[in-house]
Amino acid sequence: MKARTCLAIVLAAGEGKRMHSARPKVLHAIAGRSLLAHVLAAIAETGVTTTAVVIGGGQEMVAAEAKRLLPGVECFVQHEPRGTAHAVLAARRAIERRPEDILIVYGDTPFVRPATLTRLRAALAAGAAVAVLGFRPADPAGYGRLIVADEQLIAIREHADASARERAIGLCNGGIMALAGAHALAILERIGKRNRKGEFYLTDAVEIARGMKLDAVAVEVEEDEVRGINTKTQLAEAEAVAQQRLRKAALEAGVTLVAPETVFLSADTKFGKDVLVEPYVVFGEKVKVEDGAIIHSFSHLVGAHIGKGASVGPFARLRRGTRLGEGAKIGNFVEAKEATIEAGAKANHLSYIGDTLVGAKANVGAGTITCNYDGNAKHRTTIGKGAFIGSNSALVAPVEIGAGAYVGSGSVITENVPAGALALGRARQVVKEGQAIRLRGSKTPGKKKAHSRD
Ligand code: UD1
Ligand code: CA
Repeated sequence: MKARTCLAIVLAAGEGKRMHSARPKVLHAIAGRSLLAHVLAAIAETGVTTTAVVIGGGQEMVAAEAKRLLPGVECFVQHEPRGTAHAVLAARRAIERRPEDILIVYGDTPFVRPATLTRLRAALAAGAAVAVLGFRPADPAGYGRLIVADEQLIAIREHADASARERAIGLCNGGIMALAGAHALAILERIGKRNRKGEFYLTDAVEIARGMKLDAVAVEVEEDEVRGINTKTQLAEAEAVAQQRLRKAALEAGVTLVAPETVFLSADTKFGKDVLVEPYVVFGEKVKVEDGAIIHSFSHLVGAHIGKGASVGPFARLRRGTRLGEGAKIGNFVEAKEATIEAGAKANHLSYIGDTLVGAKANVGAGTITCNYDGNAKHRTTIGKGAFIGSNSALVAPVEIGAGAYVGSGSVITENVPAGALALGRARQVVKEGQAIRLRGSKTPGKKKAHSRD
C-alpha cells in the first residue's frame, strides 16, 4: 500500500514567559538537545512528508535551530499569539497542498513517541477527520477535557470554559492532534473565538467536525508522553525522566553503569559492548564509546569518540573533536580538544592536548602542554608514532615531533624535532658547590647540624 502523505506542524510560537528566560522556550534542552530537536526527531520517525514549524515574531533563533536540525523544514511566523488554531493557520500554504494527514504537535512536548503519532495517523486512515491524544493526569486542572459519549469524541472543553460537570472529567487533551488533510482547511476556517480567552482554539475542531458529520476520535496515552514544559521546574523534572530512560536503555543494552543515578547521558550517546562507566560521569552531545572502553569517575565528555578498550579519567575532560584510538589512555586532569590520540598512545597526567595528533604508542608525559593558541589563531601540533615527550614540556605550535623522537623533561619546544632525534629545550643545569651555605647562612640545615656537633 502506498504511504499516505503527511504534513507535521510544530507549534512553537509561544513566548514561554514562565521560563523567565531570554531564550525561546523550545530551545531549552533536555538530555543535551533542545525541546524542538526531541519533537522533530519523533516526527521524523513517523515518516512525514513535510515538516512546518510555526514560530513567533522575532524568534529567528528558533527558525535557525529548526533549519540546523532539518534543512528541509518550512518555517512560518505567527505574528501575534491569537490561539492554537490561529497558529496552525499560519502554516496555511502547507495545508493548502492537501497532504492526506496533518499532525499538529506542540514544540514544548518533547516526550511524544513516534508510535503514538503513528497511532493518530492510523485513526485518520481508518476514516476519522480529527484524532486527539487523550491522557488522564493526576491533576486535570488547566487542561481541556475530552467529552466522550457513546464512545464518540463529541467536543473538547477548555478548563476556563468548562462547567463543573465537565471539569469532573478525568480524560484530558494532550494537545497533540491529527486532522484529515481533505477537511482541515474547512474545519480550521470555521473556528471562532467565542470563549473566555477570546482566542482561536484548535480544540474547537472536534465539535466543528461533528457538525460537518465527520468523525472525531480520542487516542489515549500515558501522562509522561504528553508532559509539557512551561517552567524551569518542569524542565528539571523532564530532565530527570529523560535521564532515567537513557540510563535504563544503556543498562539494557549491556553497558555497566556502576551507579546509574550519577551518570548523565545525552539523547545521542552511543555505547558499544562491555563498556564500563564508573560513578559521576557526564556525557554531553555526540559521544560514542566503543567496545570494552572504561570511563573512570568524574570525567566530562562532549563530542568525543572513544575507541575500543580505551581508558578515560578519572577527572578527564574530553572536548569536541577528541578521538581516542584502540587502547589509548587519557588519565587524570588531562584536557583534550580536536585531538586524535592514536592506538596505544598515552597521556596519563595533567596535560592539555589541543589541535593535536598523537601518533600510535606515543607517550605524553605529565604536565605536557600543547601551546596551540598564540592569542590570535590556533595552531597544530603533531607528535609522531612512538615519540616520548618528557614531563612538563611545552610544545609551542605549530610544531612537529618526529616518530620515535625524545623530548627531554621541562623542554620548551619551538622548532620541529626530526624523527628519532633527542631534543632538550631547556637551560643546562648549573651546580655551584657550597654556594647555598654561603647564601643562606644559619638557615642551612647542613650548617646547623655542624654546630650541634661542637
Ligand atoms: C492547550 C489545549 C488544551 C490542552 C493543553 C495540553 C487549546 C486551546 N488548548 O492548552 O486543551 O489540554 O494544551 O497541554 O489548544 N501556541 C502558539 N500560538 C498561539 C498559542 C499557542 O504557537 O497563539 C503554541 C504554544 O507555543 C504551545 C502550544 O501552542 O506550544 C499550546 O499553547 P498553550 O497556550 O500552552 O495551550 P494550553 O493553554 O496549555
Ligand atoms: Ca501549555
